[in-house]
Amino acid sequence: MPEQPVIKRVRTRHFQSAKEQGIKITGLTSYDTLTAGIFDESGIDFLLVGDSAGNAVLGYETTVPVTVDELIPLARAVATTVRRAFVVADMPFGSYESGPEEALHTAFRFMKEAQAHAVKLEGGTRSAEQIRRIVEAGIPVMAHIGFTPQSEHGLGGHMIQGRGAGFEQLIADARAVEQAGAFAVVLEMVPADAAAKVTAELRIPTIGVGAGPDVDGQLLVWTDFAGFTAGRIPKFVRQYADLRGVLADAVTAFRADVSSGSYPNADESYS
Ligand code: KIV
Repeated sequence: MPEQPVIKRVRTRHFQSAKEQGIKITGLTSYDTLTAGIFDESGIDFLLVGDSAGNAVLGYETTVPVTVDELIPLARAVATTVRRAFVVADMPFGSYESGPEEALHTAFRFMKEAQAHAVKLEGGTRSAEQIRRIVEAGIPVMAHIGFTPQSEHGLGGHMIQGRGAGFEQLIADARAVEQAGAFAVVLEMVPADAAAKVTAELRIPTIGVGAGPDVDGQLLVWTDFAGFTAGRIPKFVRQYADLRGVLADAVTAFRADVSSGSYPNADESYS
């Protein structure tokens, strides 16, 4: 395994050098100051304030209803907490598709009001002009191709992308976002061999979310990887903890202690 360099603050150039040196990049989503602090101190390279907040925080069924106004306070909490990690803010559905000027306006809001370090938007060839315009203004863009959750109704549900003939579209999307100036690209729910081919062809790093091992970095939704999400989680997620179970046990114990009168005791009371 290549030696990890000491990085004071992660910048876009570190994504590029990690790819060149074969050092894997790590990313997690975060939507609040407490998790941002833990993930940052643990050395996670980048935090994505994803529109997955729609499911994980705001109680929506999909990411479609999420708005810029809802994401900005979450992104600000994360960006103002971290010392080392690179913070990427997700541009929600309906905030960039109308054209490059709308996209730039949204990107400005995330940079100024949330103090994010970069923005992410979904789509390959269809979003290339938006990416180019934002990058020209000096804002780093992380692209997102393969399965793009904001289009789940158009795509017919959570479907693996880039299989068989779909690979032509995947590679065209990957080339388009690289040419438009994206500094990295998320590949979501694509077959491992397709992701490996895209990774070998691109100069910029690929970040896999359900894209197998042969990509330049891995990103997971934190509530999935920590066992906090209710219900079904995708096959590609490895659960590193059972936070839901831990919290449920704590709540059950608290209720029992209050009912029995054992909480609070004398030490937990003021004299
Ligand atoms: O919003 C999000 O968390 C994402 C990742 C799943 C890539 O877009």
